[in-house]
Amino acid sequence: MSEITVKPENVKNIDNHSADAGPVVKEAEFDQLAEQAVSRRGFLSTCVGLGAGAFVMGMTSGFPMNALAKSTGSRMTFSAVAANTLDTITVPKGYSWSILASWGDPLWSRGASFDHKTRGSGESQELAFGDNNDGMALFSMGDKNIFAVNNEYVNQKIMYGNRESKLPENADDVRKGKAAHGVSIMEVAQKNGQWSIVKDSTYNRRITADSDMDITGPASGHDLLKTKADPTGTRSKGTWNNCGNGRTPWGTYLTCEENFNGYFSSSDENYQASAELTRYGVKNKDRGYNWALTDERFDISKHPNEPNRVGYIVEIDPMDPTSTPKKRTALGRFKHENAELVVADNGHVVVYLGDDERGEFLYKFVSDKKYKKGGNNTSLLENGSLYVAKFYDGGKGEWLALNPKTTGMKSQAEVCIHTRLAASAVGATTMDRPEWVAANPNKAEVYCALTNNKNRGVKPNAGGDLTPVGGPNPREVNNYGQIVRWLPKAGDHTADEFIWDLFVMAGNPAVHKDAYAGSDNIDASNMFNSPDGIAFDKHGTLWIQTDGKYSNKGDFAGQGNNQMLAADPETGEIRRFMVGPKECEVTGITWSADTKTMFVGIQHPGEKGDSHFPGGGDSVPRSSVIAITKDDGGYIG
Ligand code: FEO
Ligand code: CA
Ligand code: CA
Ligand code: CA
Repeated sequence: MSEITVKPENVKNIDNHSADAGPVVKEAEFDQLAEQAVSRRGFLSTCVGLGAGAFVMGMTSGFPMNALAKSTGSRMTFSAVAANTLDTITVPKGYSWSILASWGDPLWSRGASFDHKTRGSGESQELAFGDNNDGMALFSMGDKNIFAVNNEYVNQKIMYGNRESKLPENADDVRKGKAAHGVSIMEVAQKNGQWSIVKDSTYNRRITADSDMDITGPASGHDLLKTKADPTGTRSKGTWNNCGNGRTPWGTYLTCEENFNGYFSSSDENYQASAELTRYGVKNKDRGYNWALTDERFDISKHPNEPNRVGYIVEIDPMDPTSTPKKRTALGRFKHENAELVVADNGHVVVYLGDDERGEFLYKFVSDKKYKKGGNNTSLLENGSLYVAKFYDGGKGEWLALNPKTTGMKSQAEVCIHTRLAASAVGATTMDRPEWVAANPNKAEVYCALTNNKNRGVKPNAGGDLTPVGGPNPREVNNYGQIVRWLPKAGDHTADEFIWDLFVMAGNPAVHKDAYAGSDNIDASNMFNSPDGIAFDKHGTLWIQTDGKYSNKGDFAGQGNNQMLAADPETGEIRRFMVGPKECEVTGITWSADTKTMFVGIQHPGEKGDSHFPGGGDSVPRSSVIAITKDDGGYIG
């Protein structure tokens, strides 16, 4: 098993991934399992409503970690929380929660407190915690705790609720919006049990859509990245739509640029965006952000290469506030969800990456150089091999290399810029929106949340690739989502082959009796829809966060608000741990160094107008990071 907790002596990586070497599937065993999987295909194809290739936990005796039958009890010690539609956080009996930070909280004492009337200004927002917190990681060094958290996008109706149009109307509104994006880095401390921001800490930093970045790797300096503002194609400005995250054993934070396209527009309404830009959803109209009003680089008719400079994994050193963030083009350009990094047994760094759009792909990066404990690892993500997943019916899969030879592209730079087109060229498997990827700390096993895909079996992806029902995407018009997992051959994360099954298919057994009821480990007490954030804690419990429909009606009756559940990778048991407030999404998770506090993200409460979380009364709803503790002072995760 990969050794993932290795780090510089003075930096503790306290998230998932204990270094215990767990069982791996040996090569001979792998081949046998793959054969068993294939021989079960006939049986599985008779299962009602499922694509012929779907292997669901509990149906695949071949998958070695399917231990439902030998389960002797639960690893979970909390009582399940019932689904609800309350406008607050619900945690199990014996647990408590509090707010660590909310949108608009100042990181410096010269910043203004959040103003519920104006919802802040450009200046106040530049000094404050951004909006819509998503992926996060806590870095602990001695008694210092440095929190890095993504601020994905802004809730325009809320942020500009003081404007007639509920949209940015002037230059300061745009300044406020840009400043609410990016990454918030802040020191945090726990006093008398309560976590809070350490204002004015020298570590505090806002990285926004205007911060300087270096462009590294194969695409650095390529003509497609050259712009008027940066004729060298090596220095870009800003990061935005930062969704999930990753972290490295050398103590850096990875922030993942997702729906970067929605910020570009064209002053020339007749402008025809290239096929390459269109594949990424770049259009003549933005999604209401209006950034081109004050910043010409967002006008694609004037600067068509600007969108090529975003859509990457960005590496940030949270311990050095003067460091320049680095865009890692070697990890490809797409709508990055998170970046799950493991160090393979052979020392190469492997990063698993999802592209969250209907019918897009699942990727893997393998570094050229090897990780050296205590050495200088700062350039490991600069160069490596990029792969995309191909899943076969019958439980086998392989990683297809993306390079000029396999894709017909002119250079690796082009592969790294037009990665979606490269993956289409090699015939990768179109997926049901790959969201977070999580690696089991106890064995070489990896999970990916496929959140939902209403287009499955209905229409192709934006590149024209078909989306047939089958394999790990077994349900047509998939509104519930599933979690796929795979075992790399011989426990080697750098191997080209793997076997896979579905850990869970979400569904609603109270409404459906067919495949839309979900897999065997779903019942009326733990049902949910649209798994999104997933992460392992250091002991090997898989935490599942949802970003789904919260109507609590029809197909979603009884599922309540978005929520977080705990899952046992061995038995498949899933138990609801937390329910979020109204109209929120639960996303982002990290732990304190002693694992006695779990930090969880509450994103966009009241996105449609029906929440006052966390302030209550008639206060403005605000995305927040919460801290959950156990009342007896015990460990969580
Ligand atoms: Fe930002 Fe795919 O979630
Ligand atoms: Ca997400
Ligand atoms: Ca989502
Ligand atoms: Ca979101």
